[in-house]
Amino acid sequence: MKITLPTPHMSDEGYEKEYIKEAFDTNWIAPLGKNVTEFENEMVKFLGAKEAVALSSGTASIHLGLKMLGVKQGDIVFCQSFTFSGSCNPIAYCGAKPVYIDSEITSGNMSPIALKKAYEKYPNPKAVIIVDLYGTPANYDELLPIIKEHNTPILEDAAEALGGKYKGVYLGLYGDCGVLSFNGNKIITTSGGGMLLVNNKEQKDKVVYWSTQSREKCLWYEHKEIGYNYRLSNVLAGIGRGQLKVLQKRVDKKREIYATYKKRFEGCKYITMFGEQKDSEPNRWLSVISLKNTKVKAMELIDYLFKNEVETRPAWKPMHMQPVFKDCDFFSEKQVGSTCQDIFESSICLPSDTKTDLKDIEFVAKLIIDYLEKNS
Ligand SMILES: Cc1ncc(COP(=O)(O)O)c(C=O)c1O
Repeated sequence: MKITLPTPHMSDEGYEKEYIKEAFDTNWIAPLGKNVTEFENEMVKFLGAKEAVALSSGTASIHLGLKMLGVKQGDIVFCQSFTFSGSCNPIAYCGAKPVYIDSEITSGNMSPIALKKAYEKYPNPKAVIIVDLYGTPANYDELLPIIKEHNTPILEDAAEALGGKYKGVYLGLYGDCGVLSFNGNKIITTSGGGMLLVNNKEQKDKVVYWSTQSREKCLWYEHKEIGYNYRLSNVLAGIGRGQLKVLQKRVDKKREIYATYKKRFEGCKYITMFGEQKDSEPNRWLSVISLKNTKVKAMELIDYLFKNEVETRPAWKPMHMQPVFKDCDFFSEKQVGSTCQDIFESSICLPSDTKTDLKDIEFVAKLIIDYLEKNS
């Protein structure tokens, strides 16, 4: 593929190598060390967060986040249906039951209307997972009062949204805990990794304890609780520290890519840019379009672009449509069908790699417009 979806982008300055070299030179390869501590401190400072725990993935962070919020066997957890499976698989790890909630059309995130319907049937869920999909904030102004009324703790899945803001506050800070991912395709990467943002030292200590096999503080290996091997390694945290130094640059480039598509698609009656939220500054991790007024199907356009060596993919297939979750309850904001299914069937994630020249982004936009004009 010549023009791709996001791939890793190390700093031109080689910051990551310096931190890794230090880990090598001091033989501090495993398990913990300065890079892990400093990566957490630097992230806390950047975001204005209270405490952070560096973990092996975003999925592991969601798992321990749910555990921290008290989710147990048989509990109900509300989760946005339109998301990646990493958001909701951890509900099953806890032995709890996901109940899926539709999206609003503007942001693509949790629909306040559907959420209210879900509360009518399930007034006491143990937690709610809200996602800031593709880097666009959820509609917190409307969601938070509904959730507060029921006193449900919130896990904010900001895996795709690092560096984005809602009402001037960084995403990841809107829940009772927040989750970041440093997976290979994310805005910054450690190859694989994640972070759980929590509110105090006590919570942090507990999550660190669970993530290191719940080992008691004594010389021999003593265990009073089930533990996990979820801590981030010192080498990978070194990559994260280097990447964090260029995060703002990456966000700026993602926004330029989005603005380039937006300008090109202005006036094209077949395309809407997807992912809007008032009072927000999305990080534009992925630029996504929705097709309208055309008989061209998203998959047909994806195939055409693929033949032209342009990598795209459909939007996330909603979780309530997945065979593995077929028995789970789902609340739509509509009478017939659902908004998230409509988004899935009409939307395409476009190349948004920060290494891509804006001329290539223009080329992709032209391919799309020409195809739609010829075949609609
Ligand atoms: C919305 C969302 N949630 C959770 C995850 C899980 O993160 P990880 O891949 O680091 O486990 C991802 C991405 O990979 C994601 O996009």
